[in-house]
Amino acid sequence: MSDPKIVKLVDESSNRSSELPLINGTLGPACIDIGTLYKDTGHFTYDPGYGSTASTKSAITYIDGDQGVLLYRGYPIEQLAANSSFLEVAYLLLNGELPKPEEFKTFEHDVSHHTMMHESLKNFFQGFHHDAHPMAMLAAAVASLSAFYHDDLSVDDPADRKLAAIRLIAKMPTIAAACYRYSVGWPLRYPRNNLEYVDRFLHMMFEVPSEPLQMNPVAAKALDLLFILHADHEQNASTSTVRLVGSTGANPYASIAAGITALWGPAHGGANEAVLKQLEEIGTPDNVESAILRAKDKNDSFRLMGFGHRVYKNFDPRAKIIREMCHKVLAELGVNDPLLDVAMKLEEAALKDDYFVERKLYPNVDFYSGIIYKALGIPTEMFTVMFAIARTSGWIAHWIEQHETPGSRIGRPRQIYTGSDVRDYVPTAKR
Ligand code: SDX
Repeated sequence: MSDPKIVKLVDESSNRSSELPLINGTLGPACIDIGTLYKDTGHFTYDPGYGSTASTKSAITYIDGDQGVLLYRGYPIEQLAANSSFLEVAYLLLNGELPKPEEFKTFEHDVSHHTMMHESLKNFFQGFHHDAHPMAMLAAAVASLSAFYHDDLSVDDPADRKLAAIRLIAKMPTIAAACYRYSVGWPLRYPRNNLEYVDRFLHMMFEVPSEPLQMNPVAAKALDLLFILHADHEQNASTSTVRLVGSTGANPYASIAAGITALWGPAHGGANEAVLKQLEEIGTPDNVESAILRAKDKNDSFRLMGFGHRVYKNFDPRAKIIREMCHKVLAELGVNDPLLDVAMKLEEAALKDDYFVERKLYPNVDFYSGIIYKALGIPTEMFTVMFAIARTSGWIAHWIEQHETPGSRIGRPRQIYTGSDVRDYVPTAKR
């Protein structure tokens, strides 16, 4: 009886074989450890897009794409959405456990006392044209943070790692709000430490010198919930980017800035901005059918943004929560957005269409979030910035986890070379 913990792989052409151990985690499919495959068989594996490849072990987030399950440190996203706050979730992702009251009080104090950015950093925004995309400004500003904290950048020092995490979680809203205010020509706003995390952000975004800002509890609660839902998501493209950059020993600010730029793509976090622009382009429910036809047309690069997911082959649990939120928040804010009708009609039509059903394409986290951001007065170009504020907690939790894991190595994939065979240089006169 073969050992169930071993997979034997035989290359019949060379009769070389490899006995590869199976690794089981707490939940999810077992993984074949192919570490000795090249030595045993002389072969690499090939998996562009990493659809069948685990890049690391992690204890932070678990996703079951078939069942539509998402757990942060074992807690179902539905329960965290109903009972927690973004800052408490950030603590959970970083520390692995829900905080006791005194632990949260200390964490909240630490975060609120690292919210300011260096005064010199404010000058960075002057270098951008007023219509610069806020993601460009955010990525540049975050990467530059290492220039201000070079005394606390030892990736091997747990205290420096923790301080970087606090600084990043604290400063992302300040920098994000600065990106927005620079783009609309308003004076930048200092963080108010007496406000809670999301209220502080909304105050920095929308308070103007001419009149006090009426804080809106519905908006703050909705944004806090969106931040919880966007906080982490296992080894998605931007988190994998953070880990790959982190594996080189790069400082945390450079690693997180790499995650921000990876998130920007419309196939990833940039989808929430793309969804709203697509809904506006479709315009009315009557145009939904033609949009569905275009999305199915192989000769048309048009895709239904906010639909489909590499892992979820069922409803994205976050999309379910956000869809319910849409109705509640728009009603409470007294907003009647016709784009919500277009989105609902689009979802209804797609979920009945064989093309989407056969490919298990469901709405993902980005499909409805933009409608809420819009109702909160957040401009479309800022949608992915909102995603980045929330995901910074997940990114830095993964960055710390990788540095706490003994034996972590630099990430260095191989390739299938399809270029020219070896050949001699040809002098110019003979070309
Ligand atoms: C996020 O990884 C994460 O966890 C990401 C994220 C996170 O929290 O970090 O969840 C956040 O990025 C959500 C995804 C946001 N992106 C979008 O909404 C963009 C639209 N979606 C697609 O581009 C696509 O679905 C992806 C990128 C999300 C997933 O791409 P895959 O897994 O590589 O799937 P695929 O491109 O191989 O598609 C499989 C089939 C193809 O058709 P066939 O070639 O088999 O005929 O489905 C089709 C695709 O053409 N398809 C779509 C589609 N998505 C896939 N067709 C129309 N519209 C779509 N949106």
